[in-house]
Amino acid sequence: MRKKILLTDIILKSYIPIFKIFFSVDTLWNKKKIIYSDYEALVVSGVFKIPQQFYEKLSNLKIISVFGVGFDNVNLNECKKNNILVANTPGVLTRDVADLALTLLLSISRNLFNAQKYVISKNWEKKGPMQLTDSVYNKKIGIVGLGKIGKEFAKKVKVFSTEICYFGPSKKNINYKYFNNLKKMAKFVDYLVITCPGGPKTNNLISAEIFKEMKKSAYLINVSRGNVIDEEAMLKCLKNKTIKGAALDVYNNEPKINQKFRKLNNVILHPHHGSGTYETRKLMAELSCNNIQNYFKTGKPLHKVNL
Ligand code: 8YV
Repeated sequence: MRKKILLTDIILKSYIPIFKIFFSVDTLWNKKKIIYSDYEALVVSGVFKIPQQFYEKLSNLKIISVFGVGFDNVNLNECKKNNILVANTPGVLTRDVADLALTLLLSISRNLFNAQKYVISKNWEKKGPMQLTDSVYNKKIGIVGLGKIGKEFAKKVKVFSTEICYFGPSKKNINYKYFNNLKKMAKFVDYLVITCPGGPKTNNLISAEIFKEMKKSAYLINVSRGNVIDEEAMLKCLKNKTIKGAALDVYNNEPKINQKFRKLNNVILHPHHGSGTYETRKLMAELSCNNIQNYFKTGKPLHKVNL
């Protein structure tokens, strides 16, 4: 008999046929009555906050397959208690997320969205050339969390003759300057780029104290998780122009982000879409499906993150 699996969010809708090749698939978003004990596998996006009662109600759950690399939405303690494996989809999204980090960095530096507004509003015709922007060349880039995505981003941004440094829990065997003190790195760099995992360990890592160290001319880029930044502190800095700008893909309360963001003109706001290309999302769906399939075949998913 086919194993029953439950897909939680609508972002997975187009990939139902991939999962249907192997499993009997139900979807949380349009299923009226859910018999929780039916499901042995759950597929969740990286931003689906699994409700506490799911861990108890899904009494036959063996595996949570995260459609994404970040799994801060999963309660690993509950999984351990209930013997639930957790798997994710690293690797396949690295390049696209790193590309988005670079896109955000270039766009905020060259003031891309105000530039577009300048053309559309006819200010170009009325007022002449727009304000000058910042070149990325020869600038200092500080990466917070030099994992797969951080490394890929570093490789790409190096093309602009930048000086790359990083902060993280340990020094790596890599030829970039290492800071074990985030305050010192924040003071040193022109761009602070967040690529570390979210979750309790990195909660509010970019605090008011860190913002205090940043140059007035510095930019902040975040493609990790909203919780890594103290959002109120950031909003204050952006409003008071104590940093030059921020380009963000992630926020604390997605998709209902803090209203204050809308009033700023020194931000680029992107709707958590780093891996959102046709190509990568398909690979993520295939991998999250293969994680479950492999688990039922061999007892191990391809990429497990716990147990
Ligand atoms: C996805 C992500 O957008 O991989 C991650 O951690 O945040 C993204 O790739 C997300 O999982 C889909 O909701």
